[in-house]
Amino acid sequence: MSETQKSPWDPAQYERFKKERAQPYYDLLAMVRPKAGLRVVDLGCGTGELTRELHLKLQARETLGLDSSASMLAETAKFTGPGLRFEQGDIAAFAPAQPFDLVFSNAALQWLPSHETLFARIAGMIALEGQLAVQVPANHDHPSQSVARKLGAEEPYAPFLRNDPSYENVLLPERYAELLYKLGFREQQVFLRVYGYLLSARDEVIEWMKGTALTRFKKALPEAVYLQFLEAYRARLLPLLEDRRPYFYPFKRILLWASR
Ligand SMILES: C[S@@+](CC[C@H](N)C(=O)[O-])C[C@H]1O[C@@H](n2cnc3c(N)ncnc32)[C@H](O)[C@@H]1O
Repeated sequence: MSETQKSPWDPAQYERFKKERAQPYYDLLAMVRPKAGLRVVDLGCGTGELTRELHLKLQARETLGLDSSASMLAETAKFTGPGLRFEQGDIAAFAPAQPFDLVFSNAALQWLPSHETLFARIAGMIALEGQLAVQVPANHDHPSQSVARKLGAEEPYAPFLRNDPSYENVLLPERYAELLYKLGFREQQVFLRVYGYLLSARDEVIEWMKGTALTRFKKALPEAVYLQFLEAYRARLLPLLEDRRPYFYPFKRILLWASR
């Protein structure tokens, strides 16, 4: 995703569910094999707060956080430190001069298409005995996702979204396992994990989605049309969600780790 004049990422909205969003990051980090002096890249690092955790926990020699969003990167100034730096860039165009010992990416690669090609390119950024650790959401079949997708295919939204790449880029877990093997990773762990988020009420699902998956609609639609989209989304989604307090929001994610 390249940043245009309109940045859909709002760090405050994203961080409304900070604790819930951080958990998979820590789970993924726990899958990494610690080694001395690692050179690390965090693809789609967001605000950089968790990148700092990664850098400190691994006592990495050097960590680069890469993100395309100016609004998210604006937050990273607070988190830079010795050996840790941040850069604006598109993962799709990222071509480092030197390979990394660890390529890490939490909740970002789902925005990029063609994962077979993408993972092959990422594998090329990993040093000989290096590691890959990736987490991507895989919750497409929950109404919070399917309603947005169906609505986006209807008038008046569809014409604005025509050039927007599908966000159903995520493969099945077993396809990632095969892909990692084909790419020469001889050790791997691939999990599908269901996280259960306790939200105060079902309406909070909309706030959750506004912080992430709906950003593509915010980016593509003119402001008034986006507001209309949100209204229609709410009207269609809420009746499909059980009206219980708290609302239990099941959320599937794929966590994968591999080493050559
Ligand atoms: C859901 S946030 C995750 C942020 C962080 N990794 C975390 O775990 O909190 C996704 C991030 O990926 C970034 N992103 C999406 N597509 C990107 C791309 N093609 N290149 C670089 N960054 C991208 C967004 O700007 C956003 O900051």
